[in-house]
Amino acid sequence: MKLLETVKFVEQKTSLKPKIGIILGSGLGTFAENFSQKNILNTSEIPNYPKSNVEGHGGKIIFGKIKNIPILAFQGRVHYYESGILENVLFPIYFAKEIGIKTLIITNASGGINNFFSPGDLMLINDHINLTFLNPIQNLEKKNFQKKSYDENLKKIAETSAIKLKIKLQKGTYIGVTGPSYETASEIQMFKKIGADAVGMSTVNEVILAVNLGIKVLGISCITNLATGISSKKLSHKEVTETGNKVKHQFEKLITKIIETINV
Ligand code: HPA
Repeated sequence: MKLLETVKFVEQKTSLKPKIGIILGSGLGTFAENFSQKNILNTSEIPNYPKSNVEGHGGKIIFGKIKNIPILAFQGRVHYYESGILENVLFPIYFAKEIGIKTLIITNASGGINNFFSPGDLMLINDHINLTFLNPIQNLEKKNFQKKSYDENLKKIAETSAIKLKIKLQKGTYIGVTGPSYETASEIQMFKKIGADAVGMSTVNEVILAVNLGIKVLGISCITNLATGISSKKLSHKEVTETGNKVKHQFEKLITKIIETINV
């Protein structure tokens, strides 16, 4: 099997056996630079690993330790809009499961829809709306239809960590779309009416698959901009990465605390 070849290749490159994984979204990739005993693998050199070309997405998987806890970080991710192939988006999740990840922190950049949100806010993903019109478990033999997506215990850990660190952590529903064009103002008004607080082009299919594979998931979104029509400013990918850079310090502190708490 293709996946086993990938896992075998990667296992030869590291002695670490992390149980916690983190997918680092746009502009948030630098978190992995703080790792000790770092082992950086370019995904382009890993057999069968799908390619990512989006600016701001590193295309690396990094093994290392933070506060002595082994971690596997995915720096950057493959988006559905790059290839139109959902399997490419899902590959890292299958890989994470196979390599032994039990808890996955999924992060992303999103556009704020909720009027109380500002660029630079971090949002705990309480739930999501999958508006990609895709579903990753369609071809899965064993389907868990009833599972809740985002782990309640991990949500509590994130909330208490934020309080302890005095970091503002918004909470809301993430709506996942395929992109790559940004939304129209009318679409954003519709998303608001159906209960979305933030919009982005990733995460939902990854989360559905991870939960179905028995991985516990925590979702943290960085509001990098206000969604179309919520702000009068024109959207650009540059703004998304720049805001990510500004909040990365808070983000890194919060994630470190969460990881420490998960591990005790
Ligand atoms: N829309 C969709 N995806 C995004 C946005 C947005 O406004 N910001 C960051 N990712």
